Amino acid sequence: MSKNNSNDWTINKILSWTEFYFKDHSIDSPRLTAQMLLAHSLGIKRLDLYLQYDRPLQKNELSDFKVLIKRRIQNEPAAYIIGEKGFFESNFKVAGDVLIPRPDTETIVEEALKILNIGKDSGSPKTVLELGTGSGAIIVSLAKAAPGHLYFASDISVRALAIAKKNAEKIVPKIISDKICFCAGDWFSSLRKTSRFDLIVSNPPYIPTSDIQTLQPEIKQFEPMLALDGGRDGLACLRSILDGAHRHLVPEGMLLLEMGFDQKEEIRNISNRYPQYQSIEFIRDLAGHNRVVLIKKSID
Ligand SMILES: C[S@@+](CC[C@H](N)C(=O)[O-])C[C@H]1O[C@@H](n2cnc3c(N)ncnc32)[C@H](O)[C@@H]1O
Repeated sequence: MSKNNSNDWTINKILSWTEFYFKDHSIDSPRLTAQMLLAHSLGIKRLDLYLQYDRPLQKNELSDFKVLIKRRIQNEPAAYIIGEKGFFESNFKVAGDVLIPRPDTETIVEEALKILNIGKDSGSPKTVLELGTGSGAIIVSLAKAAPGHLYFASDISVRALAIAKKNAEKIVPKIISDKICFCAGDWFSSLRKTSRFDLIVSNPPYIPTSDIQTLQPEIKQFEPMLALDGGRDGLACLRSILDGAHRHLVPEGMLLLEMGFDQKEEIRNISNRYPQYQSIEFIRDLAGHNRVVLIKKSID
Protein backbone atom coordinates (compact mmCIF):
# COMPACT_ATOMS: atom_id res chain seq x y z
CA MET A 1 0.00 0.00 0.00
CA SER A 2 2.76 2.44 -0.91
CA LYS A 3 1.25 5.33 -2.82
CA ASN A 4 2.80 8.80 -2.46
CA ASN A 5 -0.52 10.57 -2.26
CA SER A 6 -3.04 8.94 0.08
CA ASN A 7 -5.81 10.70 -1.87
CA ASP A 8 -5.16 8.27 -4.72
CA TRP A 9 -6.76 5.54 -2.61
CA THR A 10 -10.44 5.60 -3.40
CA ILE A 11 -12.80 3.21 -1.64
CA ASN A 12 -12.96 1.14 -4.81
CA LYS A 13 -9.19 0.94 -5.17
CA ILE A 14 -8.49 0.13 -1.53
CA LEU A 15 -11.14 -2.62 -1.56
CA SER A 16 -9.56 -4.29 -4.60
CA TRP A 17 -6.08 -3.97 -3.12
CA THR A 18 -7.18 -5.43 0.22
CA GLU A 19 -9.06 -8.28 -1.45
CA PHE A 20 -5.89 -9.38 -3.26
CA TYR A 21 -3.76 -8.89 -0.17
CA PHE A 22 -6.15 -11.06 1.88
CA LYS A 23 -6.24 -13.68 -0.90
CA ASP A 24 -2.46 -13.75 -0.85
CA HIS A 25 -2.60 -14.41 2.90
CA SER A 26 -5.28 -17.14 2.51
CA ILE A 27 -7.89 -15.14 4.41
CA ASP A 28 -11.43 -16.60 4.01
CA SER A 29 -13.95 -14.55 1.99
CA PRO A 30 -11.36 -11.88 1.08
CA ARG A 31 -13.73 -9.44 -0.67
CA LEU A 32 -16.43 -9.63 1.99
CA THR A 33 -13.87 -9.30 4.79
CA ALA A 34 -12.32 -6.25 3.12
CA GLN A 35 -15.77 -4.66 2.79
CA MET A 36 -16.76 -5.45 6.38
CA LEU A 37 -13.55 -4.06 7.84
CA LEU A 38 -13.56 -0.92 5.69
CA ALA A 39 -17.23 -0.18 6.42
CA HIS A 40 -16.53 -0.66 10.14
CA SER A 41 -13.44 1.53 9.98
CA LEU A 42 -15.31 4.33 8.19
CA GLY A 43 -18.38 3.93 10.45
CA ILE A 44 -20.75 3.33 7.53
CA LYS A 45 -22.90 0.39 6.36
CA ARG A 46 -21.27 -2.11 4.03
CA LEU A 47 -23.73 -1.39 1.24
CA ASP A 48 -23.00 2.33 1.53
CA LEU A 49 -19.43 1.68 0.37
CA TYR A 50 -20.88 1.35 -3.10
CA LEU A 51 -22.51 4.77 -2.94
CA GLN A 52 -19.08 6.29 -2.26
CA TYR A 53 -17.01 4.14 -4.58
CA ASP A 54 -14.89 6.98 -5.95
CA ARG A 55 -14.39 8.81 -2.68
CA PRO A 56 -10.69 9.13 -1.84
CA LEU A 57 -9.76 8.11 1.70
CA GLN A 58 -8.26 10.69 4.03
CA LYS A 59 -4.80 9.94 5.42
CA ASN A 60 -6.16 9.10 8.89
CA GLU A 61 -8.90 6.86 7.38
CA LEU A 62 -6.27 4.98 5.45
CA SER A 63 -4.02 4.49 8.47
CA ASP A 64 -6.97 3.38 10.67
CA PHE A 65 -7.94 0.81 8.03
CA LYS A 66 -4.33 -0.42 7.75
CA VAL A 67 -4.43 -1.28 11.46
CA LEU A 68 -7.50 -3.49 10.89
CA ILE A 69 -5.93 -5.18 7.87
CA LYS A 70 -2.89 -6.00 9.98
CA ARG A 71 -5.02 -7.45 12.79
CA ARG A 72 -6.85 -9.71 10.32
CA ILE A 73 -3.57 -10.85 8.72
CA GLN A 74 -2.41 -11.78 12.21
CA ASN A 75 -5.41 -14.18 12.30
CA GLU A 76 -7.75 -12.18 14.52
CA PRO A 77 -11.31 -13.08 13.43
CA ALA A 78 -13.18 -10.29 11.63
CA ALA A 79 -16.04 -10.60 14.17
CA TYR A 80 -13.70 -9.66 17.05
CA ILE A 81 -12.20 -6.78 15.06
CA ILE A 82 -15.64 -5.42 14.22
CA GLY A 83 -17.04 -6.36 17.63
CA GLU A 84 -20.18 -8.05 16.36
CA LYS A 85 -21.55 -11.12 14.61
CA GLY A 86 -24.90 -11.84 12.99
CA PHE A 87 -26.82 -14.79 14.43
CA PHE A 88 -30.47 -15.76 13.93
CA GLU A 89 -31.65 -12.39 12.63
CA SER A 90 -29.79 -10.22 15.19
CA ASN A 91 -26.35 -8.71 15.52
CA PHE A 92 -24.59 -9.81 18.69
CA LYS A 93 -21.80 -7.89 20.36
CA VAL A 94 -18.74 -10.16 20.67
CA ALA A 95 -15.29 -9.82 22.21
CA GLY A 96 -12.46 -12.18 23.09
CA ASP A 97 -14.30 -13.37 26.22
CA VAL A 98 -17.05 -15.10 24.22
CA LEU A 99 -17.21 -17.65 21.44
CA ILE A 100 -18.25 -16.14 18.11
CA PRO A 101 -21.73 -17.61 17.55
CA ARG A 102 -21.74 -20.07 14.64
CA PRO A 103 -24.46 -20.61 12.01
CA ASP A 104 -24.53 -24.33 13.06
CA THR A 105 -25.86 -23.28 16.46
CA GLU A 106 -29.01 -21.85 14.87
CA THR A 107 -30.26 -25.46 14.70
CA ILE A 108 -30.62 -25.47 18.51
CA VAL A 109 -32.65 -22.25 18.37
CA GLU A 110 -34.92 -23.65 15.66
CA GLU A 111 -35.48 -26.91 17.57
CA ALA A 112 -36.07 -25.07 20.85
CA LEU A 113 -38.67 -22.86 19.16
CA LYS A 114 -40.52 -25.95 17.91
CA ILE A 115 -40.69 -27.19 21.52
CA LEU A 116 -41.75 -23.80 22.91
CA ASN A 117 -44.46 -23.40 20.31
CA ILE A 118 -46.07 -26.73 21.20
CA GLY A 119 -49.23 -25.84 23.11
CA LYS A 120 -48.49 -22.13 22.77
CA ASP A 121 -52.19 -21.36 23.17
CA SER A 122 -52.38 -23.11 26.54
CA GLY A 123 -51.42 -19.79 28.13
CA SER A 124 -48.81 -21.11 30.53
CA PRO A 125 -45.32 -19.70 29.96
CA LYS A 126 -42.54 -22.26 29.89
CA THR A 127 -39.27 -21.99 31.77
CA VAL A 128 -36.08 -22.25 29.72
CA LEU A 129 -32.50 -22.54 30.98
CA GLU A 130 -29.38 -22.09 28.86
CA LEU A 131 -26.10 -23.43 30.23
CA GLY A 132 -22.91 -21.75 28.97
CA THR A 133 -24.60 -18.78 27.34
CA GLY A 134 -21.43 -16.97 26.13
CA SER A 135 -22.61 -13.98 24.06
CA GLY A 136 -26.23 -14.88 24.86
CA ALA A 137 -26.84 -15.74 21.19
CA ILE A 138 -29.14 -18.69 21.94
CA ILE A 139 -31.15 -17.37 24.89
CA VAL A 140 -31.59 -13.86 23.46
CA SER A 141 -32.68 -15.26 20.07
CA LEU A 142 -35.23 -17.45 21.86
CA ALA A 143 -36.51 -14.57 23.99
CA LYS A 144 -36.85 -12.42 20.87
CA ALA A 145 -38.70 -15.07 18.85
CA ALA A 146 -40.84 -16.45 21.71
CA PRO A 147 -41.17 -13.60 24.22
CA GLY A 148 -43.93 -15.14 26.31
CA HIS A 149 -41.68 -17.53 28.25
CA LEU A 150 -39.31 -17.19 31.21
CA TYR A 151 -35.63 -17.39 30.47
CA PHE A 152 -32.58 -18.18 32.63
CA ALA A 153 -28.97 -18.34 31.46
CA SER A 154 -25.73 -19.16 33.19
CA ASP A 155 -22.04 -19.21 32.38
CA ILE A 156 -18.93 -19.81 34.44
CA SER A 157 -17.37 -16.70 32.85
CA VAL A 158 -18.48 -13.48 34.50
CA ARG A 159 -17.05 -11.52 31.56
CA ALA A 160 -19.10 -13.54 29.08
CA LEU A 161 -22.24 -12.89 31.16
CA ALA A 162 -21.59 -9.14 31.04
CA ILE A 163 -21.58 -9.34 27.22
CA ALA A 164 -24.70 -11.55 27.18
CA LYS A 165 -26.55 -8.99 29.34
CA LYS A 166 -25.56 -6.16 27.01
CA ASN A 167 -26.82 -8.19 24.04
CA ALA A 168 -30.14 -8.81 25.78
CA GLU A 169 -30.51 -5.08 26.50
CA LYS A 170 -29.66 -4.20 22.89
CA ILE A 171 -31.62 -6.87 21.03
CA VAL A 172 -34.84 -7.38 22.99
CA PRO A 173 -36.97 -4.59 24.47
CA LYS A 174 -36.54 -3.93 28.19
CA ILE A 175 -39.76 -5.70 29.09
CA ILE A 176 -38.34 -8.88 27.53
CA SER A 177 -34.70 -8.46 28.58
CA ASP A 178 -35.95 -8.11 32.17
CA LYS A 179 -37.42 -11.61 31.80
CA ILE A 180 -33.97 -13.11 31.16
CA CYS A 181 -32.21 -13.92 34.40
CA PHE A 182 -28.42 -14.27 34.07
CA CYS A 183 -26.37 -15.97 36.75
CA ALA A 184 -22.72 -16.97 37.09
CA GLY A 185 -21.63 -20.45 38.05
CA ASP A 186 -20.37 -23.88 37.12
CA TRP A 187 -23.22 -25.52 35.12
CA PHE A 188 -26.10 -26.01 37.61
CA SER A 189 -24.31 -24.67 40.70
CA SER A 190 -25.99 -21.26 40.71
CA LEU A 191 -29.48 -22.79 40.73
CA ARG A 192 -31.60 -23.63 43.73
CA LYS A 193 -31.90 -27.39 44.24
CA THR A 194 -35.64 -27.06 43.66
CA SER A 195 -35.42 -25.13 40.35
CA ARG A 196 -37.16 -26.98 37.52
CA PHE A 197 -37.26 -26.09 33.82
CA ASP A 198 -39.40 -27.22 30.90
CA LEU A 199 -36.44 -26.94 28.56
CA ILE A 200 -32.67 -26.87 29.09
CA VAL A 201 -30.47 -25.94 26.13
CA SER A 202 -26.71 -25.81 25.78
CA ASN A 203 -23.90 -25.58 23.27
CA PRO A 204 -21.14 -26.75 25.64
CA PRO A 205 -17.43 -27.04 24.82
CA TYR A 206 -17.08 -30.42 23.07
CA ILE A 207 -13.69 -30.42 21.32
CA PRO A 208 -11.18 -32.98 22.65
CA THR A 209 -8.20 -31.18 24.21
CA SER A 210 -5.74 -32.83 21.81
CA ASP A 211 -7.71 -31.60 18.75
CA ILE A 212 -7.47 -27.96 19.73
CA GLN A 213 -3.97 -27.55 18.27
CA THR A 214 -5.33 -28.73 14.88
CA LEU A 215 -7.94 -25.93 14.71
CA GLN A 216 -7.55 -22.84 12.52
CA PRO A 217 -5.31 -20.16 14.11
CA GLU A 218 -8.34 -17.82 14.22
CA ILE A 219 -9.98 -20.22 16.66
CA LYS A 220 -7.11 -21.60 18.72
CA GLN A 221 -5.31 -18.26 19.14
CA PHE A 222 -8.31 -15.99 19.71
CA GLU A 223 -11.43 -17.79 20.96
CA PRO A 224 -11.69 -18.56 24.70
CA MET A 225 -10.35 -22.01 25.62
CA LEU A 226 -13.13 -22.19 28.20
CA ALA A 227 -15.61 -22.21 25.31
CA LEU A 228 -13.80 -24.86 23.25
CA ASP A 229 -12.08 -27.43 25.44
CA GLY A 230 -14.29 -30.43 26.17
CA GLY A 231 -11.57 -32.36 28.05
CA ARG A 232 -9.68 -35.51 27.07
CA ASP A 233 -12.45 -37.06 24.95
CA GLY A 234 -14.48 -33.90 24.33
CA LEU A 235 -17.36 -35.21 26.43
CA ALA A 236 -16.52 -33.86 29.90
CA CYS A 237 -19.02 -30.98 29.78
CA LEU A 238 -21.72 -33.07 28.09
CA ARG A 239 -21.31 -35.65 30.90
CA SER A 240 -21.70 -32.99 33.61
CA ILE A 241 -24.79 -31.60 31.91
CA LEU A 242 -26.41 -35.02 31.47
CA ASP A 243 -25.63 -35.81 35.09
CA GLY A 244 -27.32 -32.66 36.38
CA ALA A 245 -30.11 -31.91 33.90
CA HIS A 246 -32.55 -34.58 35.10
CA ARG A 247 -32.55 -32.96 38.55
CA HIS A 248 -33.61 -29.63 37.05
CA LEU A 249 -36.12 -30.74 34.42
CA VAL A 250 -39.85 -31.08 35.01
CA PRO A 251 -41.28 -34.55 34.27
CA GLU A 252 -41.13 -34.98 30.47
CA GLY A 253 -38.95 -31.86 30.23
CA MET A 254 -36.54 -31.62 27.31
CA LEU A 255 -32.76 -31.29 27.10
CA LEU A 256 -31.38 -29.96 23.82
CA LEU A 257 -27.61 -30.01 23.26
CA GLU A 258 -25.21 -29.21 20.45
CA MET A 259 -22.57 -31.94 20.00
CA GLY A 260 -19.65 -32.96 17.79
CA PHE A 261 -20.69 -34.72 14.57
CA ASP A 262 -18.91 -37.93 15.70
CA GLN A 263 -20.16 -38.08 19.32
CA LYS A 264 -23.52 -39.76 18.73
CA GLU A 265 -22.76 -43.23 20.14
CA GLU A 266 -20.88 -41.94 23.20
CA ILE A 267 -23.71 -39.57 24.05
CA ARG A 268 -26.28 -42.34 23.63
CA ASN A 269 -24.22 -44.54 25.99
CA ILE A 270 -23.92 -41.81 28.62
CA SER A 271 -27.63 -41.00 28.42
CA ASN A 272 -28.62 -44.68 28.68
CA ARG A 273 -26.94 -44.83 32.11
CA TYR A 274 -29.70 -42.57 33.47
CA PRO A 275 -33.14 -44.18 33.88
CA GLN A 276 -34.39 -40.60 34.41
CA TYR A 277 -34.23 -40.06 30.65
CA GLN A 278 -36.92 -41.78 28.58
CA SER A 279 -35.91 -41.04 24.98
CA ILE A 280 -33.06 -39.71 22.86
CA GLU A 281 -33.18 -38.35 19.33
CA PHE A 282 -30.40 -36.99 17.14
CA ILE A 283 -31.02 -34.10 14.77
CA ARG A 284 -29.01 -33.67 11.60
CA ASP A 285 -27.77 -30.40 10.15
CA LEU A 286 -28.12 -29.47 6.46
CA ALA A 287 -24.92 -31.41 5.68
CA GLY A 288 -26.46 -34.57 7.17
CA HIS A 289 -24.32 -34.60 10.35
CA ASN A 290 -25.79 -35.34 13.77
CA ARG A 291 -25.09 -32.04 15.50
CA VAL A 292 -27.89 -31.77 18.05
CA VAL A 293 -29.28 -34.23 20.57
CA LEU A 294 -32.77 -34.01 22.09
CA ILE A 295 -33.29 -35.97 25.32
CA LYS A 296 -36.62 -36.27 27.11
CA LYS A 297 -36.91 -36.75 30.84
CA SER A 298 -39.20 -39.54 32.03
CA ILE A 299 -42.50 -38.89 33.82
CA ASP A 300 -40.70 -39.37 37.24
C1 LIG B 1 -19.21 -23.37 23.07
S1 LIG B 1 -19.46 -21.95 24.08
C2 LIG B 1 -21.14 -21.56 23.69
C3 LIG B 1 -21.44 -20.10 23.77
C4 LIG B 1 -22.83 -19.72 23.22
N1 LIG B 1 -23.87 -20.42 23.94
C5 LIG B 1 -22.91 -20.05 21.75
O1 LIG B 1 -23.53 -21.07 21.41
O2 LIG B 1 -22.37 -19.29 20.93
C6 LIG B 1 -19.55 -22.72 25.67
C7 LIG B 1 -19.78 -21.78 26.83
O3 LIG B 1 -19.78 -22.57 28.04
C8 LIG B 1 -19.15 -21.85 29.06
N2 LIG B 1 -18.64 -22.82 30.05
C9 LIG B 1 -17.53 -23.59 29.99
N3 LIG B 1 -17.41 -24.35 31.08
C10 LIG B 1 -18.48 -24.06 31.87
C11 LIG B 1 -18.92 -24.52 33.14
N4 LIG B 1 -18.22 -25.43 33.84
N5 LIG B 1 -20.07 -24.02 33.64
C12 LIG B 1 -20.79 -23.08 32.95
N6 LIG B 1 -20.41 -22.61 31.74
C13 LIG B 1 -19.27 -23.09 31.21
C14 LIG B 1 -18.06 -21.07 28.37
O4 LIG B 1 -17.65 -19.96 29.15
C15 LIG B 1 -18.74 -20.71 27.05
O5 LIG B 1 -19.35 -19.44 27.13
